[in-house]
Amino acid sequence: MKITVDEKRQVFLLHTENTTYGMAVVDGRFLEHLYYGGRLEDTDIRYLLRTDEAPLVPSQNKRETGAFLDCAPMEYPETGMGDYRESALCVRSIAGHRASELAYAGYEVMEGKPKLPGLPATWGSQADCSTLKIFLKDQLLGLKVTLLYSVFAGSDAVVRSVLAENEGKEPVYIEKILSACLDMDDQDFQVMGLFGSWARERHIQRMPLGYGRQNISSFKGESSHQEHPFMALVTPETTQETGRVYAMNFVYSGNFLAQAEKNQFDSVRMLMGIHPEGFCWKLEPGAQFTAPEVVMVYSGEGLGKMTRTFHDLYRTHLIRSPYLHQKRPILINNWEATYFDFDETKLLDIAREAAELGIEMLVMDDGWFGKRSSDDSSLGDWFVNEEKLKGGLNDLVEKVKALGLKFGIWIEPEMISPDSELYRKHPDWAIQIPGRDITQSRAQYVLDLSRDEVVDGVYQMIADVLRSADISYVKWDMNRQLTTMGSYALPADRQGELFHRYMLGVYRMQERLITDFPDILLENCSGGGARFDAGMLYYSPQIWCSDDTDAIERLEIQEGTALVYPVSAMGAHVSVCPNHAVGRTTPFETRGDVALLGTFGYELDITKLSPQEKELVKEQVARYHQYNDLIREGDYYRLGSVRENGIYDSWMIVDKDKSRALLFYVQVRRRVNVKSRFVRLKGLDPEKNYAAKECCFAGESGTASEWIPADKTVYSGRALMEAGMRLASAYGDFRSRLVEFTQE
Ligand code: GLA
Repeated sequence: MKITVDEKRQVFLLHTENTTYGMAVVDGRFLEHLYYGGRLEDTDIRYLLRTDEAPLVPSQNKRETGAFLDCAPMEYPETGMGDYRESALCVRSIAGHRASELAYAGYEVMEGKPKLPGLPATWGSQADCSTLKIFLKDQLLGLKVTLLYSVFAGSDAVVRSVLAENEGKEPVYIEKILSACLDMDDQDFQVMGLFGSWARERHIQRMPLGYGRQNISSFKGESSHQEHPFMALVTPETTQETGRVYAMNFVYSGNFLAQAEKNQFDSVRMLMGIHPEGFCWKLEPGAQFTAPEVVMVYSGEGLGKMTRTFHDLYRTHLIRSPYLHQKRPILINNWEATYFDFDETKLLDIAREAAELGIEMLVMDDGWFGKRSSDDSSLGDWFVNEEKLKGGLNDLVEKVKALGLKFGIWIEPEMISPDSELYRKHPDWAIQIPGRDITQSRAQYVLDLSRDEVVDGVYQMIADVLRSADISYVKWDMNRQLTTMGSYALPADRQGELFHRYMLGVYRMQERLITDFPDILLENCSGGGARFDAGMLYYSPQIWCSDDTDAIERLEIQEGTALVYPVSAMGAHVSVCPNHAVGRTTPFETRGDVALLGTFGYELDITKLSPQEKELVKEQVARYHQYNDLIREGDYYRLGSVRENGIYDSWMIVDKDKSRALLFYVQVRRRVNVKSRFVRLKGLDPEKNYAAKECCFAGESGTASEWIPADKTVYSGRALMEAGMRLASAYGDFRSRLVEFTQE
């Protein structure tokens, strides 16, 4: 990592291990984007700006300044002066004019990285991280904008954020402040994103980038099930190993806009930041606003390299939890086992059986508080439902502990049911527009967490619960989107701040929770995986991936999630069949293998399992203990996707010194009368030999010999990667296998 500033040429370069990001000052004032791609050492690359081509620069051709502004590669484009592509910044003056002209005003390089106040962000020390700040100023408005860029030792990521400060005498209104912009020539790009719905989160989609603007966005108040704050522009030949990839991921959990625009000159602008829809921030003289961070990754070696760059950065510079590098307790969650229909006896039955099979923690899900027996009531009433838990919470926790299990609990602190004591006492605490019905969703309203007294009031109730018993884990859920945006605490010209202030309130509350209860393992969740994003990872080392626990549906969900996020963060459980979401029956072993690529746990009524299934639970528990260190800390490689080939899914985890690896293979669809398949492995050392050991194979009528051709057990890494591992076809659909490779 290195930051190079060539003051004479006014060129700024950020170098990572294998990439360079550059910008330059043009005409003494315009900050232009210069280069992003494979690493360059040279600073003499101003020729890339093409400033000698028409329409030239304004100092040489003032009459065509508009044409210049509309085609130059801008580092931080603004509304109002002539750049008609999508802007990153739109500021309205007190007089009502929408325009700004940010001119270059200096720079600073610092070791380390400043914190972003109230926001999740990557972090680094003076030893392993450097930051470049570029100062820009609009004289008329008195607006100072600082662009911040950081690079990290050993990483190919560049992270960016933006700080706006009002140094003028009058307030200004920020109507749009995106965090990152990347202007470049088109390379026949395709846009990759993650799309879905409830129970179908983060499916990968790739489509050509045509003229016009292509958006991926959310203005639901959360990062959302439907679209995801990630965008990559890839060249057409891009595979796991080849092609150029320019990716952006937002370290934020609220509204976002990611956009790719191809314009009249076949140049492309890629942007990411807080969605301007419903956003307007009043900046008083002396006040500051920080736009959240965007992580950019360029890979010249395809998607796999991009994925591993994100995984490593998030495991070393984003997730802070002390549990990050620890084996998490294997949990059993009662949601799919009982839904709302449970009491102390039922929970203890589950705990007793779970303890015998080696499970380490019982998580009591929704329904333990207020008078909640369905999702119609009681959110906000964070005290124990003593009809269900007759002896109270501490009594239950102590009994569970006596069985040898830890105890975890579900909460949904951001919500309030219209039918709750809290709502009857504080109806104004709900987000609402006076005079309008509040839109109900799952029969609930959203609390106005922009208000400190609301954050404090709810937090106190939750903290009292957590102090009342020995609780080791919290599942923080969030089960609806935001609507009818209005806050009793904000004046009319600040109502446009509510979406973002809400997020700041959520972050404040989570920060408080992990500070006051540092030993609690926090798992975030949002109606399944609607808030699986880099922002939440700053607070919790794991996030519930999806309410769809079917092993086959999970293949696509987990593939899309692991495209960006470390597998150590993916909440994944073994559940019962026929699966509650899709009605599919899959082998118990397959369910275990798929859940192994995540935090691993169970979500079923374990008292109802057959003796054979209970034996399989014991085996899976042992396998988790054996392989979790490797899975959690290793490098992830994608070998095949059922999404693309329709038949099988396959991935690998290789440890950092390439001495050990795990191969997962799921035969989704059995085909008859076919030869065995060679699957090319990745990430191994070609010079090493590896012994292969079958760890698990799935299916009632299956035998190991069906899978493993018996003719070879030691392979060279080179042969495994160049020619492939031979995998026989097994009888039946949804059959998985797991093979361990150990250096000989
Ligand atoms: C959400 C979660 C589930 C469960 C329910 C409880 O849907 O994703 O895991 O906790 O809420 O209401």
